[in-house]
Amino acid sequence: MIPIANPDISDAEREQVLEVLDSGMLADGPVVREFEEEFATYCGIDHAVATSNGTTALHAAFEALGLGEGDRVITTPFSFIASANAIRLAGAEPIFADIDPETYNLDPDSVKEVIQKLDGDIDAILAVHLYGLPADVTRLQEIAGEYDAYLIEDAAQAHGATVDGDRVGSLGDVACFSFYPTKNMTTGEGGMIATDDEAVADRAARFVNHGRNEKYRHSEVGHNFRMTSIAGSLGLAQIEKLSEYIDARRENAARLTDGLADSPVTTPVEPEDRSHVYHQYTIRYEEREELQAHLDDHDVGYGVYYPTCIHEQPAYKDISTTAPVAERAADEVLSLPVHPKVADSDIERIIEVITNYVE
Ligand SMILES: Cc1ncc(COP(=O)(O)O)c(C=O)c1O
Repeated sequence: MIPIANPDISDAEREQVLEVLDSGMLADGPVVREFEEEFATYCGIDHAVATSNGTTALHAAFEALGLGEGDRVITTPFSFIASANAIRLAGAEPIFADIDPETYNLDPDSVKEVIQKLDGDIDAILAVHLYGLPADVTRLQEIAGEYDAYLIEDAAQAHGATVDGDRVGSLGDVACFSFYPTKNMTTGEGGMIATDDEAVADRAARFVNHGRNEKYRHSEVGHNFRMTSIAGSLGLAQIEKLSEYIDARRENAARLTDGLADSPVTTPVEPEDRSHVYHQYTIRYEEREELQAHLDDHDVGYGVYYPTCIHEQPAYKDISTTAPVAERAADEVLSLPVHPKVADSDIERIIEVITNYVE
């Protein structure tokens, strides 16, 4: 079976983790501060705050921006449910716009339409860089500016992706990352908040640590959303290899796109101003279920991200929205193995298995 994800854990990670275990400092500590600094430098931003996972990073980012009850956040219904859950967990209201059928990211025209229906009364836009392709932040930033709203990046799937050469994490008011094991780099579980705004970073750092300003002094109520030093040490080892991982994913993606060029499946796009880091290599095919059965028969792993739009989830049944482009994508998308451990021979086999079926 060619697996859809396979994290790379080598001697570098083992050594870093053992160092932490030997130090006895297992919870938050200097290793986490070092990882924050390295991550901020990588993104080209001033401040990074580590968290226990990507969902808590988003939740803390909303709190740090002061978004909560009575605030409206426009986002995509075609994402992992955590994107919308974090809005609700902060007490704000998620409002869904539709997506672009080619990039699968928020469609700025749909965002604009939704805002106009709300008479311009919005507080933030949460743009998800789905599958590792940055959303159209240039236009979303313009729209956010027009309505005096924040632009927040959900970069959980897009470490290292760029727009006009600038890395995600530096493109909005604040950005959030996940280091879940399937992601382009991992800390087991973990997350990061990235921002150039010192006050936002300070508030986020307080919120993830019980609202604490100094030892046993707490200026507000917060959570324990801290990253452990074990996770931080994994992050330090992984960030060293992130560029290598991205190159490998991009090479695998280029081979897949080349090999599937004449087949009836739709392959991913990469707009000129953006670089895709292929967290997922997602094709589109109308008879997806039949193709899934064929891949099962030939031991090719795949994933469907996501089979149900967020507004159609039972947890969101109180929201009545339609997003026809997202709903159709949810019926047709299918992601193929593209991670750095996929060998050239695996790529050839994936292409052959798909081509034999669809033609
Ligand atoms: C787009 C998106 N946002 C948020 C998250 C939440 O991250 P985590 O699983 O680390 O909480 C994920 C993770 O799967 C994600 O893919």
